[in-house]
Amino acid sequence: MSTSSSHEAWGTRIGLILAMAGNAVGLGNFLRFPRQAAVNGGGSFMITYFIALLLLGIPLMWIEWGVGRNGGRFRKGHIPGMFAAIWKHPAAKYLGIVGMIIPLTVMIYYTYIESWTLAFSFFSITKDYWGNTTQEAMVGYLQSYQGITAGSSHTMALGFFLVTLAINIWVLSRGISGGIEKLARIGMPILFLFAAVLAVVVIFLPPGPNGETAWQGLQFIYNPDFSRLDEPSVWLASAGQIFFTLSVGMGSLQCYASYLSKKDDIALNGIATAATNETAEVVLGGTIAIPAAVVFFGVTGAMAVAQSGSFNLGFATMPVVFQQLPMGNVLGFMWFALLFFAGITSSVAMLTPIVAFFREEFGWKREIIAWSFGVVTLLFGLMNIFWLQYGFLDEWDYWAGTFGLVLLAVIETVLFMWVFKPENAWASIHQGADIQIPRIFKFVMTYVTPVYLLFILIWWGTQDAIPILTNAKAAGGGTLTPEMHPYVTTARLIIVGFAIVFAFLIRIAWKRNNYDDRAGFVEVDQSGRTAV
Ligand code: TRP
Repeated sequence: MSTSSSHEAWGTRIGLILAMAGNAVGLGNFLRFPRQAAVNGGGSFMITYFIALLLLGIPLMWIEWGVGRNGGRFRKGHIPGMFAAIWKHPAAKYLGIVGMIIPLTVMIYYTYIESWTLAFSFFSITKDYWGNTTQEAMVGYLQSYQGITAGSSHTMALGFFLVTLAINIWVLSRGISGGIEKLARIGMPILFLFAAVLAVVVIFLPPGPNGETAWQGLQFIYNPDFSRLDEPSVWLASAGQIFFTLSVGMGSLQCYASYLSKKDDIALNGIATAATNETAEVVLGGTIAIPAAVVFFGVTGAMAVAQSGSFNLGFATMPVVFQQLPMGNVLGFMWFALLFFAGITSSVAMLTPIVAFFREEFGWKREIIAWSFGVVTLLFGLMNIFWLQYGFLDEWDYWAGTFGLVLLAVIETVLFMWVFKPENAWASIHQGADIQIPRIFKFVMTYVTPVYLLFILIWWGTQDAIPILTNAKAAGGGTLTPEMHPYVTTARLIIVGFAIVFAFLIRIAWKRNNYDDRAGFVEVDQSGRTAV
């Protein structure tokens, strides 16, 4: 039953874990991870990556489940409400604005990239790109699809974006257990199956033109290498990847966790989600794109492709490889379909905090909110489509999808571990828990995680944020040409605009519901809920 006054709930425990894992496992696992590993020195990156997983990723996973479930006690599935539930101060809700802007902004560009994977699934099965047998030719094919080369049009890209967005909004409009959980139960097994098949195919590839094997690709990633550990950029890149891949610092894991009850476990479920994501990332994600690229282009060649652009490994190198394999069109279809399922089980999560906000505070119907924000996503998505070559998407990816995540994580960690107090946070995470988390993590969450986060924020602030803001550097790397200036400025102003609109909406919401900032919210009765 879902009346607009009830808080939704998960149907089953396996559905919950699949949905949480679906949220985390995304394009980041199969496209972003291989590229980051290749650019940052393979074996060196992996060392800093595991440190970041232990000290940032896993602690934040528990913190976010805790923050989210605590919000759910007061029927709050959005970050402004969750922050206000922890810190009884009028400013708390406004700190939550970051947790509204980030998911909305990321949703807008993420669904666009996701739509390319849908398109390329078709182009694989129909062999549409067959004949573009070099990397350069494939990059040209991708760019002409994106409408950024001379004489190409945006029609195809626009069409696939509309279809992708419509599917997303339709799933979202069906709610937590009726839409998102169902999608995860179908999409996640398919994704794992396709990824496993591709990983096996890649491992058994015969040696390439220069005698290189997949084994050399695996060695490049998995052989520990201490040579680049003195480069801060490697540490920052791995921390950034941990954030992105686990979906922390965004507002959506918290929203998912708000649909849990006091009786539900979060200690074990949280670690199960992280483990599933890491399997998909390190085992499967690491075994497909890089080793395949190494077989055909060697280690240096593979690194060069990875460096040449965020999407070249997935959208240019892989298609070149598929064209040389028996049943390459089927394998190509599996690759892009797995990316599509990875993408959609993540993107449906992104607007959930927004839906929660308007349902809980304004009493709007879920369907209405979902379709309205579908229109918002479409309108702003057009800018990503038409201004792709001017760095518009990169600008949003930097502020919302990179810097913003760390900012949100700092705020929530300080609120949960310090304002709420370590004892309460620890007890809250263990309520209904099936396992006892090693006590050392209490110390890590209280001191190590926030300090690590602050370091990243300050380092990024001086190395990237300020040069990007002053246009000394492009958000997507490289230099910013003068013709890009108006576009990146517009991209930033829109984010500021979102912040102002959300600030007003939060203010109106608190007024109309007569919330008392100092007294806090009234707890809702969960006695009728069964545990998942
Ligand atoms: N984790 C997703 C990926 O690996 C991307 C992502 C980041 C995300 N933050 C999110 C997905 C929030 C859903 C919600 O691709």
